[in-house]
Amino acid sequence: MFASRQISSIAKRAFSTSASSNAAKVAVLGASGGIGQPLSLLLKQSKLISHLSLYDIVNTPGVAADLSHINSNSKVTGHIPDNDGIKEALVGCDIVVIPAGVPRKPGMTRDDLFNTNASIVRDLASACAEYCPKAHILVIANPVNSTVPIVAEVFKKAGVYDAKRLFGVTTLDVVRASRFVSEVKKVTTEEANITVIGGHSGVTIVPLLSQSGFKFTEDEVKALTKRIQFGGDEVVTAKNGTGSATLSMAFAGARFTNSLLEAVVSGKKGIVEPTFVESPVFEKDVQFFATNVELGPNGVEKIHPVGKINQFEQGLIDAAIPELKNNIAKGKAFVNKA
Ligand code: NAI
Repeated sequence: MFASRQISSIAKRAFSTSASSNAAKVAVLGASGGIGQPLSLLLKQSKLISHLSLYDIVNTPGVAADLSHINSNSKVTGHIPDNDGIKEALVGCDIVVIPAGVPRKPGMTRDDLFNTNASIVRDLASACAEYCPKAHILVIANPVNSTVPIVAEVFKKAGVYDAKRLFGVTTLDVVRASRFVSEVKKVTTEEANITVIGGHSGVTIVPLLSQSGFKFTEDEVKALTKRIQFGGDEVVTAKNGTGSATLSMAFAGARFTNSLLEAVVSGKKGIVEPTFVESPVFEKDVQFFATNVELGPNGVEKIHPVGKINQFEQGLIDAAIPELKNNIAKGKAFVNKA
């Protein structure tokens, strides 16, 4: 198929002599939503993006027109399903960020979103596999523990899967952990650098406070762990039925996208972000797992091990694994059902 042979804009630039064109085409799918709009705004500020391509089932022409007046150098285009909009949005993309899908309401778990979001993510992944098979895919849509395996299975079926280019965005858990610890320890957020591993829902979120360099009381560890695992619920409750985290998520999504751009476009070394990827860390038990990952020109460069943990944290991992296993199996089964 012609489209699947389209090369990405970075690949094209390898043949270009213009240094100033060294930037990427990035698509946001779900760009009109609560996360999509502020995320697109933050990405519009990146010098490493030449073309910001916004796709949603509604409203992207307006969002794109608005953002296109900001005087940073990237071009902004808006696409809806009409007139092959998804193809236009995706062809030539280096990075695709997916915040499309419904958010939680009070009392819902992320898994409660599965029925609606699984098919949205499957269909968008299918389009990515067809129109930009080499792009890095960043999945924000929940439940991340299942939607990432869904994208993997769709890409496998299309014969274009590259595990190094598929990421579940778990950055918000690390952003929250840093903020919450900085409040408790009265330090800056730069000093509160907290590793969070596992997945992205409730007990699958595993903060490794023992690796932070701070001394915590037992009560602090329990309270902080619970708050990091269920911090999303604070926002869902406060928003009172109107959605979940959007602004902090846009910040976290932009942080991850910018880190990947630095690695892919600028070729910077040693950039490490936590992310939910196909991982050998607990290979026998779970195929996908978040740990710190070094990013490189081809996506995943090096997956860091869990490192030294204490008995409490081992207990958290033991609780996370069965749930993660179920979430991953559910995503895979959804794509592979007859
Ligand atoms: P929202 O409802 O405000 O926006 C979602 C957007 O997706 C809407 O504009 C909608 O039109 C669009 N959409 C729906 N179906 C689509 C399709 N087939 N193609 C393209 N666009 C489509 O929701 P919000 O708050 O932006 O959340 C989006 C997702 O992100 C939710 O699943 C939410 O649970 C998840 N999320 C993930 C977090 C993470 O840490 N990974 C944190 C917070 C939310």
